[in-house]
Amino acid sequence: MHQTHQIKEAREFIQSKTDLVPEIGIILGSGLGGLADELEDAVIIPYEEIPYFSKSAAVGHANQLVIGTLNGKRIVAMKGRYHYYEGYSLDEVTFPVRVIQALGTDKLIITNACGAVNKEFNPGDLMLITDHINLAGTNPLIGPNNDDLGTRFPDSSEVYNRELRNLAKNIAEENNINLQEGVYTWWSGPAYETPAEIRMIRVLGGDAVGMSTVPEALIAVHGGLKVLGISCLTNMASGILDQPLSHDEVIDVAAQSRSKFVQLIKEVIHQI
Ligand code: HPA
Repeated sequence: MHQTHQIKEAREFIQSKTDLVPEIGIILGSGLGGLADELEDAVIIPYEEIPYFSKSAAVGHANQLVIGTLNGKRIVAMKGRYHYYEGYSLDEVTFPVRVIQALGTDKLIITNACGAVNKEFNPGDLMLITDHINLAGTNPLIGPNNDDLGTRFPDSSEVYNRELRNLAKNIAEENNINLQEGVYTWWSGPAYETPAEIRMIRVLGGDAVGMSTVPEALIAVHGGLKVLGISCLTNMASGILDQPLSHDEVIDVAAQSRSKFVQLIKEVIHQI
């Protein structure tokens, strides 16, 4: 359970570094960290300096909180995130979301790289997350509830905010960005799924599969934040193509899609 005093201490530490009160939070997934470098008048705070933030070891993640402005909006960006498969508790994975909210934001944009389960999708496509399926066998809200932060049994009928989804769809259309829509499935990892598991996910109604996002989204909704989730589909999920999955492929395709991903996110931030 996240403790109110820990959130306050982390918030006060960040506020001692900047006067800017952010209005939008963004979690930058694999390959997207560069967006944080575009923030103007940025204050960069390494996670390890922030009280109660854990140290992340994930390759390709910078592990900095970056606060600044982008397209006229005040932003707090997570350049790098914690993953459950790294061994962090879900409290640790999601603590930054509580702090992002405490800083004054009411919206959170969550991005990730994930595998395409829906055979109509292609590697490199972007996908608007309409809903999720939690197949990780756990939940970040398990444990005593902190009533200061949210209710014991939060409604999950609209985790991914409809208004923000419509905005993203319109922006994608206006900018000729092909934006798929679908259900994201959270798989704990770190092993990629087996072909049989992917067939199961398809039967269950999943369009994509990945190892992040759902814990942060659940905590955000518990706290009352509006969430927008956008994925980069870096590969066809296990067994769809007759080839093994590799992390290098994930990183390569994420890099190839980066410019349209960044364009979409920046325009969403502008119009939000
Ligand atoms: N499965 C799970 N996580 C992923 C994948 C995948 O195929 N691609 C990128 N992240």
